[in-house]
Amino acid sequence: MLHENLKTCVITGVTSGIGEQCALILASKGFKIIGIGRNEKRCLNTQNKITKISNNQSFIINKCDLSDHKQIKELSKKISSQTKKIHLLINNAGGIFLNRELDKQNIEMTFSVNYLSHFLLTGLLLETILSTKNSQIINVSSIAHEKSEINFDDISYKNGFNGMKVYGQSKLAILMWTYTLSNKLISNNTIVNAVHPGIIGTRLLSNNGLFSPILNLGLKIVGKSSRIGAENIVNAYDNAQHNNSGNYYHEKNISISSKFSRDKKNQEQLWKLSENMLNFRYPKI
Ligand SMILES: NC(=O)c1ccc[n+]([C@@H]2O[C@H](COP(=O)([O-])OP(=O)(O)OC[C@H]3O[C@@H](n4cnc5c(N)ncnc54)[C@H](OP(=O)(O)O)[C@@H]3O)[C@@H](O)[C@H]2O)c1
Repeated sequence: MLHENLKTCVITGVTSGIGEQCALILASKGFKIIGIGRNEKRCLNTQNKITKISNNQSFIINKCDLSDHKQIKELSKKISSQTKKIHLLINNAGGIFLNRELDKQNIEMTFSVNYLSHFLLTGLLLETILSTKNSQIINVSSIAHEKSEINFDDISYKNGFNGMKVYGQSKLAILMWTYTLSNKLISNNTIVNAVHPGIIGTRLLSNNGLFSPILNLGLKIVGKSSRIGAENIVNAYDNAQHNNSGNYYHEKNISISSKFSRDKKNQEQLWKLSENMLNFRYPKI
C-alpha cells in the first residue's frame, strides 16, 4: 500500500510520449504515481527512467492491455489494493490504427483502447476517486474530435472504415463522456476535464506495422515535444483547483468543442451504448 499522506495519481499509457512525461512532471512534484503500461520491457524502462530522473522511489507500474476487459477488471482490483485514494486519474493511453482491427470482445480497436477502456477503468475506480477529497479526472481528447460524429448505428465501422475517422470518433467519445461524467459528479466535488495536448511528436502511430517508423517520423517533424503535451495536461490539473469542471482545454486554454460533442442527447446515447457494450453499469452517482 502506498503512503496515504501524499497525493496519488493513476496514469494510463505511461510507457511513452505524453503519459511518460506527465508521470515525470508529477513524480518530480512528489506525487505517488501508479502507471499503467502494456509491455513488460517498456514498463521496466519507464520505471527506471522516472525513479532515476525524479528521484521519487514511490513510482509503481502495472501491466495491462487496455483492449482486454478482463485485464482491466483485474487491474482495477490491483490498484485498489495499492492505494485507498486517487487524487488524479489521467486517462491518456491511445493509438491510431490505420487498418481495421478488433479487440478480444470483437469491438473496433481504436474505440476500445482510446475510449471504452477508460470508461470501464474509471467506473471500476470510481468509489476510490469519490472517496478522495478534491479528486480530478483528466481525459486526453484531441482536436481530431472536431470534424467527427459518433457512428451509433455501426460503432465498430464494419462498413466504411477509415483510420483517421475512427480515431476522431474515439476522441469525440472521450470528450462527450467527460461532459456527462462531470455533470454526474459535480455534487461530489470531483472535477472532470478533457484536454487536447497539442500536436505532439510521439509514437502514436506505432500500431501500423512496417509503416509505423515513417509515420511516427512524420509526426515527430510536425509535432512539439512530449514535455509540452504533458505540461498542457498538468496545467489543466492546476487550473481546475478552483472547481472548474466539464471543460475542454485546447492546449492551455479552455475552448468550445464541436456542436456534436456538446449535444446532451448524443452524450446520453453514448453513455447508454458504452454501458451496454461493456455489460457494465456505473455505480449510482
Ligand atoms: N501525439 C499527438 O499529436 C496527440 C494529439 C492529440 C491527442 N493525443 C493523445 O495523447 C494520448 C497519448 O498519446 P501519445 O501521443 O503520447 O502516444 P504514444 O507515445 O504512442 O503513447 C501512447 C501510450 O498508450 C499506450 N497504449 C497504447 N495501446 C495500449 C493498450 N492496448 N493497452 C495499454 N496501453 C496502451 C502505449 O503503450 P506502448 O508504449 O506499449 O506503445 C503508450 O504508453 C493519446 O490518447 C492520444 O490520442 C496525442
